[in-house]
Amino acid sequence: LAPAQRNLSVVPQLEFARLSLHDPRMHTEVSRIDAVSFRRALLAWYRANARDMPWRHTKDPYAIWLSEIILQQTRVDQGTPYYHRFLAAFPDVLALARASEDRVLKLWEGLGYYSRARNLHRAAKFVSKELDGTFPKTAHELQILPGIGRYTAGAIASIAFGERVPVLDGNVIRVLSRIYNIDSCTDEPKVREQLWDIAAALVPARNPGDFNQAMMELGSTICLPRGPKCAACPAAKWCGARANGTVERHPPVKRRSE
Ligand code: ADE
Repeated sequence: LAPAQRNLSVVPQLEFARLSLHDPRMHTEVSRIDAVSFRRALLAWYRANARDMPWRHTKDPYAIWLSEIILQQTRVDQGTPYYHRFLAAFPDVLALARASEDRVLKLWEGLGYYSRARNLHRAAKFVSKELDGTFPKTAHELQILPGIGRYTAGAIASIAFGERVPVLDGNVIRVLSRIYNIDSCTDEPKVREQLWDIAAALVPARNPGDFNQAMMELGSTICLPRGPKCAACPAAKWCGARANGTVERHPPVKRRSE
């Protein structure tokens, strides 16, 4: 099936959490009620427990884009001062487009992974020159820009524009691999594609940005790689790995190729 068709046929089979990803039952019957209660529980938890982050007070796609690029390889506490300094120096995408690369890189100093800053700058110039200064408004169009892949496009589109698109970062991969008790290596392209499909099926039409941030937040504060805090987890009752007692074995580490 084409990816678009496949997306439509994949549904969150949360009560089948103990089935393997490859079991056809994972991808057939709709379990709408469970998805609805899962979303509700996750969003309620997020609203009560979300950490206060400066980019959670804005719908400006430029600011959200900047925050997502910074957070790609940087912790929240380390990245926050950079976010403020960058926005103060370049308050909008056109200001960033006009800046010299030296100035952009100077403001990035200490964060590392300088290709992130170069791509931000290149993308801003592209928006300014080729798109008449208008920031793209869909996840699909956002991926035209340098440095914006499916993850970043999904984050910006869902958070800033309320588009019903998923995100899948390391945190979300771990959360899903545990809920769905996935035994395959999550680096495998086929498994990764299935994880995107599951994430897409789970994200709600209302508040997709909050839902996506809740999934990431769950991964970074509760569903930890080691020492996960299952007793405090809003998803515990849907979690296949918890039911199996295998939480810390997910996601499995890559096997050596035979
Ligand atoms: N990691 C990257 N972006 C995030 C966000 N908006 N919320 C929580 N964790 C994140």
